[in-house]
Amino acid sequence: MRFKATVLCENTVFGNGPIAEHGWSVFLETDAGNFLFDTGQGKAIIHNANYFKKDLSSIEAIMLSHHHGDHTGGLLDVLDYTGEKVVYAHSDIFRDAYNTRYRRMSYAGIPYRREVLEGKGAQFDLSRDFRQIAPGLYLTGEIPRITPYEKGDAYLVIKDNDQLRSDPVIDDQSLIIETEDGLFIILGCCHAGIINTLKHAVHVTGQKRIHTVIGGTHLGPVSNEQREESIKALKEFNIERLGVSHCTGMKACMRLYQEFGEKFFFYNVGAIVDNENVYVSVFASNTK
Ligand SMILES: [Fe+2]
Ligand SMILES: [Fe+2]
Repeated sequence: MRFKATVLCENTVFGNGPIAEHGWSVFLETDAGNFLFDTGQGKAIIHNANYFKKDLSSIEAIMLSHHHGDHTGGLLDVLDYTGEKVVYAHSDIFRDAYNTRYRRMSYAGIPYRREVLEGKGAQFDLSRDFRQIAPGLYLTGEIPRITPYEKGDAYLVIKDNDQLRSDPVIDDQSLIIETEDGLFIILGCCHAGIINTLKHAVHVTGQKRIHTVIGGTHLGPVSNEQREESIKALKEFNIERLGVSHCTGMKACMRLYQEFGEKFFFYNVGAIVDNENVYVSVFASNTK
């Protein structure tokens, strides 16, 4: 598949015009049409789509990586532009989920009821399975938690029958683009763990070569030991390019740059990755 992936929502931005928010959204232009992966938390997506001249009414479908509001909060506004649209997500995307960081419990799930989104045109297509969205474009489906060191985020909880329990974010999934050069993997928040995600992508596609990994790695809010184990395992994949963002954090970015050198880049608002090139955001508005 030929493609071009532009970051519409991310935590940081460079330059006048586009805006940042804690969130994640990627506009994907492919030879099978345009797609949107996640929608940010809702403050930036319309503004940035206009700024980068990405026509939200042109998209074929929307994919959601997981339930968290920083990935799903922009969906209602996006539906204003798309009208009726298929939204691919995991079966457990509608969760009563909370974040207990900073000694308070804040709601962390999709900030709109399903009926409200459906009333606006969302046609949810929910599944736990690996599946093809278009030829060469896939959603990983639920990712088996295999590695002993990727332990998830202890601050995340879900409410089941009025009982709180730890949330492994079982609905977390990533996007896979199959190309002549290998797999390009776009992570959402990677709650499943980056190594679990890459192993699963290799398993379900039968493709051993991963060319590029971009997106939120969730290597920020983990212990130093876990981060180092993940980085060590990541190096074994022989990835050509690693463009991280969102929940990766400064410390993990610095470690990844130390380990991956020029293969590393920061993939924030306005940055573009296509089959051959990376355009970092400082120049993004000067590209086509
Ligand atoms: Fe996130
Ligand atoms: Fe998340």
